[in-house]
Amino acid sequence: MAYTLEQLGERYGAWWIDALGEHNHIGGLDSTRWLLDRAGLRPGDRMLDSGAFVGAAARHAATSIPGLRVVATDMNPEFLQAGREMEGGHAVDWVTAATERLPFASASFQSVWALDTAMPPRELARVAAPRATLCLCCEAPNDNRGGAEAFFEEWEEYGWRLSAHRALSLEATNTWRKAEADVVWRHTFYEERYGKRGYGGQLDLLTSLVQMYERGEAGHGLYVFSRG
Ligand SMILES: C[S@@+](CC[C@H](N)C(=O)[O-])C[C@H]1O[C@@H](n2cnc3c(N)ncnc32)[C@H](O)[C@@H]1O
Repeated sequence: MAYTLEQLGERYGAWWIDALGEHNHIGGLDSTRWLLDRAGLRPGDRMLDSGAFVGAAARHAATSIPGLRVVATDMNPEFLQAGREMEGGHAVDWVTAATERLPFASASFQSVWALDTAMPPRELARVAAPRATLCLCCEAPNDNRGGAEAFFEEWEEYGWRLSAHRALSLEATNTWRKAEADVVWRHTFYEERYGKRGYGGQLDLLTSLVQMYERGEAGHGLYVFSRG
């Protein structure tokens, strides 16, 4: 059975579905477009959207570049089933898989994406073709104690060089603040949706995210790496 986005929100009771929606990463569709403009993809190329949820980025890419061959993976088949039924879903191949163990041959994709999801460097590098791009939307350490350098070094070890970056820390902070405020403001609705204990847990999580970002302990950004 395929669910709509609203039904997925009810079924999973997850703040991130309610807070972020279909393009389930910081910056939404605008971030997807920014990455696609820099991914270097051409008709006939293969793109992997890993940890895709309902595959909004995969569907957007597949319908924006005719002839692009797009695969969306996620560990949850229900998310993929919902994506398959959404606009552009017919243009994407949907494969249930954990990103840590992708069922694809090495060097299969000209662009590998991981947007606000798991990003195991070794496996993402393995499935990427020699001159591929790697598109990330992710949290990055921002602590002035070497964390950011360690983040880049981890990718450099697999041959990736940063080719484009867009800071999203302020946008992420505002997104978490807004989500926290919404969960508090509409507490009756969310208590019903998440359950009483679930509500408290999700609010705590959002509160700690807001604090972490406000203290500057973490940042967020879009990153395009390339190699070759
Ligand atoms: C916040 S959502 C981001 C979804 C999507 N990348 C987007 O930007 O719209 C995180 C998704 O990653 C998936 N996920 C988390 N860990 C994963 C893993 N190790 N392997 C595959 N999928 C994973 C979750 O099931 C969820 O759908």
